[in-house]
Amino acid sequence: MARRATIVDSLEAAGIGVLHVDLGDFVSTQNVVKQQRTQYLWEEMTRLGVKATTPGKRELSEWRMLEDFLESGEIPFVSSNLYRGTGEEKRPLTNRYLLEDVGGVRFGIVGLIGAADFARARVPDDAELSFQEPAEALRELLPELETKAEVVVLLSQIDRDATAELLHEVPGVDVALIGNRARADDEIVMEGETITNQSGVRGQWAGILSLIVDPTGHIVKGEAHNRPLDKLVAKDPDVLQRAQAANEESDRLRQEDLLAQKQERAAREGSTRYLGAETCKRCHVSEYEQWKSTPHANAFLTLKKDLGGMQDADACIGCHVTGFEATGGWINPNTNPDLRNVQCEACHGPGTEHVRTGGGTRMGEAVCTTCHTGEFAKDWNYTKYYELVRHD
Ligand code: HEC
Ligand code: HEC
Ligand code: HEC
Ligand code: HEC
Repeated sequence: MARRATIVDSLEAAGIGVLHVDLGDFVSTQNVVKQQRTQYLWEEMTRLGVKATTPGKRELSEWRMLEDFLESGEIPFVSSNLYRGTGEEKRPLTNRYLLEDVGGVRFGIVGLIGAADFARARVPDDAELSFQEPAEALRELLPELETKAEVVVLLSQIDRDATAELLHEVPGVDVALIGNRARADDEIVMEGETITNQSGVRGQWAGILSLIVDPTGHIVKGEAHNRPLDKLVAKDPDVLQRAQAANEESDRLRQEDLLAQKQERAAREGSTRYLGAETCKRCHVSEYEQWKSTPHANAFLTLKKDLGGMQDADACIGCHVTGFEATGGWINPNTNPDLRNVQCEACHGPGTEHVRTGGGTRMGEAVCTTCHTGEFAKDWNYTKYYELVRHD
């Protein structure tokens, strides 16, 4: 007696028959929620008891998460042409094929990714992932599968044309489900002896494929019934609730991200920084020229000349540079802006606030005596010294 087996295709869509959320919106490329949403989808797939899934570019790019899922064994992964490790240590990423009973028919399932998608996936180097040509992998596995399964299914993460080419090059696949940037087919498409079906991208469709298989394992008939997951699809209250919770979590993550960005920007704008005399010069040319003529503008060179190797430079540098040990001030001779010498901001304070508001910073003797002190006070006389540094 002939048996009927129905495959619900598109692994994203496998759960979607009962989901009724707009998965088009749901699968997000926004970095801040991508991981959370992928995680949700995979958990939903686990609950639905998906029988087989093969990782594509997107899944590989979420490598850490994929690794966890592979390890947990909650979703049956199949990948016939991906390996980990090198040389002697090289081993398949996961099952190279799976055997499944659907409607009394024994299915053998292989999964392949194309070279282009593999190359574009963002996988960390330490994953040591390697790729085998799809045709080679298929040739290796088909003889074994033909003895173990009645119907061989290929889950293809290779685009339509390249999948077709592969099926002609390596005959023996009975059914190919193409999930790579695929639109939804109206009916099955034959490639040689192989029934192919594409069931639409982004989980917006449920790809449903019915097969009538005779007792010898021969497919008598194949029919595609791909269905858009629109308002006509019944809602499962549990799934709906989980989907809503996941949506709320996404919103929360987005809000959190926005806030963090805002704070970072505020911190960047509001932070105290020394800008250097060249910045001040843009608006205060005459003060700059006068300052240039004072010993302050050469204080670093003076120090350098005087440091005879025996001296502890750290003990000296503080009064010969600008903003020493101050937030946004001197760090080392190579930082930008260059804060060598006793520049404008050593007396007037860090310029960030002033440049923003246009308000000035007055200062008095106390500023001078942070440096002109102790053995360096020499014959300090504020009135006398003041006359030598004021700019007019
Ligand atoms: C960040 C430290 C620092 C501050 C603040 C500072 N000075 Fe100086 N000042 C120096 C150093 C160092 C020299 C020596 C520079 C050199 O000779 O290369 C110097 C030199 C001078 C000289 C030249 C003295 C000479 O022998 O020719 C005068 C005048 C002077 N400072 C006045 C002032 C006044 C007035 C203030 C405050 C309004 C002030 N300085 C603030 C570090 C400072
Ligand atoms: C507390 C701040 C301060 C420290 C620390 C400091 N200097 Fe100075 N230095 C000054 C001031 C102020 C002057 C300018 C004095 C003046 O002309 O009135 C000066 C001037 C000088 C001069 C110019 C010549 C002179 O003696 O007037 C030399 C050279 C010098 N310092 C070397 C050093 C060395 C070397 C050290 C480390 C041992 C050092 N300074 C540490 C504040 C300092
Ligand atoms: C050694 C300390 C010192 C340094 C260095 C210094 N100034 Fe001044 N600046 C003064 C003093 C003193 C006044 C007089 C006004 C006061 O007492 O507040 C003044 C006044 C000013 C004023 C007010 C208008 C004017 O000309 O009197 C401006 C603008 C100014 N400085 C810009 C600069 C700029 C720009 C630089 C660097 C290129 C600079 N200052 C470097 C001490 C300094
Ligand atoms: C974008 C232009 C601009 C830049 C850059 C700028 N200032 Fe000013 N500054 C002004 C204006 C405008 C005033 C107010 C009018 C005036 O006094 O000339 C002023 C005034 C000042 C005053 C006098 C404030 C008072 O209370 O009398 C000082 C001191 C001063 N600036 C220092 C600096 C220092 C130091 C820097 C570099 C860190 C700097 N400025 C960079 C535009 C600028």
